[in-house]
Order: sequence, then structure tokens, then C-alpha cells
Amino acid sequence: MRRYLYPWSKSEVKVFDSDVLVLGSGIAGLYTAIKASEYFKVTVLTKKTIEESNTEHAQGGIAVAIDESDSPTLHFEDTLRAGAGLCDPLTVRILVEEGPSCVEELMDMGAKFDRHDGELALTREGAHSQRRILHALGDATGWEIERALVAKVKDNPNITTLEGRFVVDLLENDIGDIVGALVLNEETGELEGHLAKAVVLATGGLGQVYRFTTNPSVATGDGMAVALRAGADLMDMEFVQFHPTALLIPNAPRFLISEAVRGEGAHLINAAGIRFMDNIPGKELAPRDIVARAIWKEMNQGSVYLDFRPIGQERILERFPTIHQTCLKYGMDVLTMPLPVAPAAHYMMGGIATNSYGETSLAQLYAAGECACNGVHGANRLASNSLLDGLVFGARIVEKIRETIKVKSPSWEEVLSPLGNPCGTGFVNHGTVKQLEDQGLRNRIKDLMWDSVGILRDEANLRKAKELLMAWEGDSVSTCCVEDLETGNMLSVGLAVAKAALDRMESRGGHFRSDYPLHLDELWQRHSLQRKEDYHVRYVPVSGAD
Ligand code: SIN
Repeated sequence: MRRYLYPWSKSEVKVFDSDVLVLGSGIAGLYTAIKASEYFKVTVLTKKTIEESNTEHAQGGIAVAIDESDSPTLHFEDTLRAGAGLCDPLTVRILVEEGPSCVEELMDMGAKFDRHDGELALTREGAHSQRRILHALGDATGWEIERALVAKVKDNPNITTLEGRFVVDLLENDIGDIVGALVLNEETGELEGHLAKAVVLATGGLGQVYRFTTNPSVATGDGMAVALRAGADLMDMEFVQFHPTALLIPNAPRFLISEAVRGEGAHLINAAGIRFMDNIPGKELAPRDIVARAIWKEMNQGSVYLDFRPIGQERILERFPTIHQTCLKYGMDVLTMPLPVAPAAHYMMGGIATNSYGETSLAQLYAAGECACNGVHGANRLASNSLLDGLVFGARIVEKIRETIKVKSPSWEEVLSPLGNPCGTGFVNHGTVKQLEDQGLRNRIKDLMWDSVGILRDEANLRKAKELLMAWEGDSVSTCCVEDLETGNMLSVGLAVAKAALDRMESRGGHFRSDYPLHLDELWQRHSLQRKEDYHVRYVPVSGAD
């Protein structure tokens, strides 16, 4: 694996600095930036517009134990049960105990959740023993959270936000500390060096490496790939969550149909109208991996549908206005007809390995949100725990930065030169030929990952995927445009997923091997860790993270 994705030289880079550099503008990035701005000058860089992130698309909500009948202990137990033996109890305890005050603070920042008779309304989702999911505007929770955080950031004199900035790679000094990021200004084509005393990756997931995904186009695994190239550990990359219910209509995107729909009483039925989840413990509200595989199996016999009608028309309109309207655009009225659905790649449980303060294996580099792996989600994330994760561990990163931040800012002189590929060519769109080739490469990656590293896996397919991805990575990848750079990142993270999945010879949570269908705690209740050298996988015990 090359150290830098893009050829550059120090002389061609325009230099900026701040105390804290945050890459990514979803819930983890913006919440961390706001908290950090109480003490530091912060720069937030984002690939497209500030609003465009996985957070904005979140429907179901944010899980938090605030009801009288609920408790952090019950939330802890549900999270561990869904995580199939791979959650770190220490970080889960922190998540559920510090979650309520973070959500309180989010509301103080302006996020408005739905209420019923003045009280916060709570819904249920798969594998939760209680109603503990806060939601907003019915089914547009992520949109509302993003709206509130963006308004707060724009109003904050200590935060500079720059849109259209693609992170190419991390910058380090000669003792290996991370001192900033090399960034491409998408509008001008210039390279920028953003120096900072602390760098926080909050760049989201990698759903786009799969042919079918609920994720927006920005989710190409960039943060995980830049961390890997800089030498950081990735953890549990074999664990990808496939959401059971995405819209399945030819030529329509796999639009997410929230798990909250099943939480409110919708049924999964097959082409004969039979509720095929009836004999499975938890039925439609079993953990996500179980529901996704049951649907996948049923799809061998024919189509699968989500029938909203048991919820009742009035309640559907109140709770799921976005889903209702979106499906209408495709000619499907969920008030009167069952909706065809299928699983799609949705969430990455693995990511950049961190401890319970978001610290990675590289000094001054932190990670939060979906690009990070701190052990709270184990092998299968409990529904609606991801937004909470972004808040709780984003806040803890700021605590750690306050304790450890250096007085002196890094200088451009101390940034290590890009030995090996020193001559920059500038960012030039070289035209169409190579670009078209790499569009082909992106499509090949997506198809291969879906077919061979998807919901059901086996040795022959995983080996084929690993070998093909390695061969493609060895070829020179075009760097003509941002899409090509993303494709380079997709190759790296796809390869990490395929290699970790090949090496884990058991089934657990989101990772299911048809050739090793058993869950084998004695051998495999361990986290996988990978570094860039050949994506070699080593294992560490599940424990408290520190
Ligand atoms: C959903 O609404 O089903 C998605 C929420 C989540 O992924 O936790």
C-alpha cells in the first residue's frame, strides 16, 4: 500500500492552521467541533456541503435510557446482547451512562425531538427491550439533528467551516505524530496543508463499497483509508451491518425504510402473504443481522414485503411522513399496499481502532462516529446507538485534547516530506479516458463486494475478492478527480473488510460464513486488528478498551 494516495510536494501546498482540525460534518464531527470550540480555535473540513453526511439520512432516531421504566443497565444489556459477544463492556457502560447528558446537551443546542402530551415520545426498534428511541419530525431525526448542529456551528466565531475539501492524507512529523491533513480544495484544485495540534477523523462509513447501500454517495471510507495509510490500526473490519429493509424497486435507490416501522407494528411478509419471521425469537424485532439473513433466505423463494397496514393510516402519516412521501414518488402508497424491500449495506461496526477517549494508535489523531471502532457496537450494532456513539465519544475526545494538547503549534517545516513520490503534478483533470476506466473500477469493486463479501460469505468467494482487490490495488489508480481518489480509498477499505472476513473462520453478528456457520467463543471472541502491511490480521481479547 502506498503512503500517499496522491503525488505532492511541500512547495505546492497552501498552509493553514488551527488548534483542532475536524474532518467530517455529521453528528460526531459537528458535536466534537462545538464542544472543542469552548476552548480552542477549530476548523471543520467537509467533502461536499456541511449538511451532506450519513447523519442527515438517519430516520429511526437516537437510543437513550431516559424513560422511568428504563435504565442505563437495561440499555447496556440490550447493546451487549445485540453485539454478539464482541462489545467492550467498558465502552458500552460509558455510552449508556454518559448518553443521557449528551442528549440533553444536544437538545440545549437546539435539536427538537417529537413529543406526546409534552413528554418526549419514545419508539422501539429491533433488539431493544424498552421503548427508548427519540425521534424527530416523525422519521427525519438525522435531518433535525444536523439542522440544529449546523446552525450552532455557523453561529460560532471559534469554528471555521470549509466545504468541498477532500482529505487526501494525514501529515506527520519525523517522530510519527500526526500534525495535520493534506486536503484537496475541490473548487480550485489546489492542495492545502491544514496543520493542527489535534486531528479528529469523523468522516463516516463505507457503504458505497457495496453495490446496494442505504448510505449517501459521500460514504466511501475515506477516513479509515487515510488512517490506514498513515499507519493506524483498523479494528473489526469484517463486521458490516446490512439493514434488513431498504426499498426494492428497479432503478430506485435503496432508500432506507426505518426499523422503527417494524417497531410500530409493521409485518414482514413473503409473496404468499405469510409472516415468515413468526417462528424466529423476537420476530420482526430480532437483531438486525438475524432479520437481514432471514429476508435474504426468503428472497430465494420470491419477493419480500414490509406491510405497514397493521400500524394504521393515521399513525403511519404521523410517524413516517418522509417514507410515505418518498415511496409515493415511486408509485407505492404504504397506506394501502405492502412495500417490496431487501437488505442493503448500512453501517460499519469496525473502523479506526480507538480507546474510550477516541485516541487512535497514532499520537494526536482521534476518531469518532462511524469511521471509529471503540468496541461499543461489537459484531452487530444495536439500532439507533450510532448517533449516541457520535455524541458521547466526541465529547470525550475534547476532554482528552484539553488534558494533552501541546502549547506549540506544528510548523510546516516539521511536516515529513512525501519521500517516494516527491514531485507534485498539481490537480489536473486529465480528461475522460482514465476517468472512465476508474468508473469501471469503482463498479467492479461494488459488484465484487456485494457478491463475494456480502450477507453470506464463504472461503472461495472471500479469497477471490481478496486476490482481485489486491491486484487492482497494485495497478496504478488514476488520480484525475475526487471520484478517482475515493475509488482508491474504496479499494483499501474493501480489501481490509475482505481480508478480515476471510481470516475469521466462524459466524458472529454481521459476519456470516456459510462454511463456518457456528459462533465459536473459545477461539474467536476477539477483536481483529489490521495495519497496512499486507492487511495482516492479528487478534486481541475483548476487554475494557484502555
Ligand atoms: C433505522 O431507522 O432503521 C436506522 C437507524 C439505525 O441505523 O440505527
